Amino acid sequence: MDIFRTKTGKMNESVKLFMEEVLQGLKSSPKTLSSKYFYDDEGSRIFQQIMDMPEYYLPEAEFEIIQTQSEAIARRINQTRLDIIELGAGDGRKMVHLVQVMSQFSADLSYFPLDISEGILKVNEELFRKTVPSVHFESLAGDYFKTLPALKDRTNPRLIVFAGSNIGNFRKGKAVEFLKFIKGELKPGDFFALGVDLKKDPKKILSAYNDPTGLTKRFNLNLLTRINRELKADFDLKSFEHYATYHPITGAAESFLFSLRDQAVTIGDEVIQFQRDEVIQMEISQKYDLPLLQELSSAAGLSLDSVYSDSQGLFSWVLMV
Ligand code: AVI
Repeated sequence: MDIFRTKTGKMNESVKLFMEEVLQGLKSSPKTLSSKYFYDDEGSRIFQQIMDMPEYYLPEAEFEIIQTQSEAIARRINQTRLDIIELGAGDGRKMVHLVQVMSQFSADLSYFPLDISEGILKVNEELFRKTVPSVHFESLAGDYFKTLPALKDRTNPRLIVFAGSNIGNFRKGKAVEFLKFIKGELKPGDFFALGVDLKKDPKKILSAYNDPTGLTKRFNLNLLTRINRELKADFDLKSFEHYATYHPITGAAESFLFSLRDQAVTIGDEVIQFQRDEVIQMEISQKYDLPLLQELSSAAGLSLDSVYSDSQGLFSWVLMV
C-alpha cells in the first residue's frame, strides 16, 4: 500500500510532511528528529507516565501555582467578560482549577481549549461540563497556528495560556517566532500566560530527563517505533541508546539517541547510514530565568507584566502583554 494515501486513495498530507521532515532531519549534520512527533498514542501514554514520575517535578510545581495563585492572577486580569484560550490544552486537569477561580471574578467567562487531538478534547469537555457548568465551553481541534486566529473576531478580552513549559521544547529562534505569533494575536487589554520551568539545581533537572526507570528513554525510542510503523522504516531499537544532558549556563536540557554500531536504516525508499556513536538530536527542554524571558519576550515585542511562582521557586507562570 502507498503510505502517502489513505484507504480511500486520498493523499495523506500529514504522513507526507512527516516523511519529509524525518528525512531532512536525518540527512542533516548533526542528525535531528523533532520531538513534536513524540506524541502518537503510545508516546502520549508514556508522557502521562513521565508526568507521574517522582523525578519529573514540573506538573506538581505548576499545579501548586494554579492552586495558590489563581486568585492573584484573576485580580490582575480583572475582567467581567473574559475568554480563556488554552493552547495545547490536553485533558484540562490543571486548568479547571484556574477556570473555577476565575469564574468567581468574571461573570461572563468562556473557556476555549485548543488541541491537536480530538480525543483528549472530549475528555477535557467532560471534566469542564461537570466541574464548571456555568462556564461557556468550546473546544477547537487542530494546529493552534490555525485555530487561534479563527477566534480573533470575538470581542471579549482574552487570556491566552501556554502552560506546561511547552515553550521549552522550542529552540530560541522558534520560541521567538511563537511569541511573535502570540503578540500578533493580542489586542489591548488581553494577557498571555506562559508556564515555564526555571533554571535550578542542575542535578534535579538532569534526573527529570535521565530517570532510573528508563521512561524518558522509551519516550525517545518510541519515535523510532513510530517512524518504523508510519514510514515503513526498519530502525533496530536495540541498536540505539539514550543520552540526556543539562547545561546549567544555557539552561538547555537535551535528549539524544546514539547508534551502538555502524548501521544502515531504510526509511521508505531511502537509506540512512549511521556510524557507531553517531547521535540523533531529539529534544530540547529549555529552562528559563528572568533575563532569558526578558530577552525572548522583548525580541517578540511583548512585555513582562507579572510573575507567579511555586513555593520552591521551581516553576513560574509569567503574564505578558
Ligand atoms: C512537553 N514537554 C514540556 C516535556 C518537557 O519537559 O520538555 C516533554 C518531556 N520530555 C521528556 N520528559 C518530558
